[in-house]
Amino acid sequence: MRRPVNPSTVIALTDVATLPPAALTPTRRSPLGMLIRIIRNPLDALPAAAFHAPLVHTEVLGRQRFHIMDPALIQETLVGNGDALAKGPELRRSLGDALGEGLLTGNGTHWKWQRQSASPIFRHERLLAYLPAMLEAAAATRDRWLKLPHGSEIDIGHEMMHTTFDIIVETMLSGRGNIDVARTERSITQYLEATGWIFALSLLNAPDWVPYPGRARAKKASRFLRDTIGAIAAARRSAGSQSSDLIDMLLSASDPETGRTMSDGEITDNLLTFITAGHETTALGLAWTFDLLSRHPEHAARALAEIESVTGGGPLESPHVGQLAYTRQVFQEAMRLYPPAPIIARATVAPFTLAGRPVPVGSMIYVPIYALHRHTALWDRPEEFDPDRFAPEPSKARHRYAYLPFGGGPRVCIGSGFAMMEGVAILATLLRSVRLTSVDAQPLKPRMRLTLRPGKPLMMQVERRG
Ligand code: HEM
Repeated sequence: MRRPVNPSTVIALTDVATLPPAALTPTRRSPLGMLIRIIRNPLDALPAAAFHAPLVHTEVLGRQRFHIMDPALIQETLVGNGDALAKGPELRRSLGDALGEGLLTGNGTHWKWQRQSASPIFRHERLLAYLPAMLEAAAATRDRWLKLPHGSEIDIGHEMMHTTFDIIVETMLSGRGNIDVARTERSITQYLEATGWIFALSLLNAPDWVPYPGRARAKKASRFLRDTIGAIAAARRSAGSQSSDLIDMLLSASDPETGRTMSDGEITDNLLTFITAGHETTALGLAWTFDLLSRHPEHAARALAEIESVTGGGPLESPHVGQLAYTRQVFQEAMRLYPPAPIIARATVAPFTLAGRPVPVGSMIYVPIYALHRHTALWDRPEEFDPDRFAPEPSKARHRYAYLPFGGGPRVCIGSGFAMMEGVAILATLLRSVRLTSVDAQPLKPRMRLTLRPGKPLMMQVERRG
């Protein structure tokens, strides 16, 4: 049964001046307890008030930290004060070894020309041209599953990584060539495993050389990733242009200020950025979606009915994907509950004021997407899975910055259109052929490792439909 839109799902801008003082007063937290929580799972270190207050101001080890949950304040910060913000030190420490100063990790003018150089490959007409590759990779996964004995168990996270990896290398690099996919996936996981420690060390302002568990493994993984992708970039440069994919676009890009082109190292920074940022997040979003659908078969049945109606029972083709409105809503709602990038972090490089409070240089700004998406003042029944929240009416009524799976402001995800199209194409292909049932009776707790991963492998049983 469809519920009417509840007015409390529609956020009004918060008038910060009228908020209870507890929402805004600086709180002091035990640094040791917090460090332990950050190492285990940074989500557990979020202030409890992040789920019901508009803004939480804390001071940890002498550093000002602002958690912003009010959509209007988020917009004011990320858009209005975008120039006063740089990517946080956690990100540089976690990803700098592998991704250098590429599009995700770079700042200032270096970031800007990389963004301009990569933008053309995400134009709408280009995205439509990627759809056949997306459908083909999804069909390959389906065919692999259909060969499994009835009732086999699969690790859905791993399966989705495999599928989205095939898509990213096919569309951005014109094919995987001889990349060792399994080792690449393992290396990314090893690399991200150490991020809890890195977050804690960043908070302590510890120098970069301080050792931590998993550091040697992470370094080795990063070397493997850079060597693999660097070899592809170098081979392409010496072979000359062959297609108009991401590599070609980066090879021919020139900085409008200096006229210089990218070095092989800079091209590697960006290729690796696109490969990692462009497949892991989508795969996690899909894995959580399948888990939710298994626990809510009524929504799976509704998506399935839509797919059958749009395709008329025939093969799923590129023009159908844009018509699958409810399937898209399912993916959006899954990313509300499990946003693949759960916290956006920035460091202030110029002072500004936020809700009348000074934000000095060196403060840490967090937009905790995970808490924003489960915020009691923004969402009715925040813990409940309800794809109807993303029907046109309630979506229009909601503040744009209340739902931010792809971030916001100038650093918003460059691949959001790509990811939505890919997510719907994969969901539709797989949903109509197989029924997936989560093996664990209770939903798994998410654990943040830069991205939002299940605390242990998310196992699902596969059965052929019909
Ligand atoms: C469901 C899938 C995805 C999610 C949830 C996601 C989420 C995000 C978020 C939240 C940011 C902003 C981070 C920040 O502000 O600190 C971001 C940036 C970025 N994403 Fe995505 N992303 C997804 C898919 C993709 C895809 C498919 C690509 C490429 C094909 C991609 C490439 C990037 C890049 C290069 C950036 C950095 C942009 C910049 O700083 O200019 N992402 N993503």
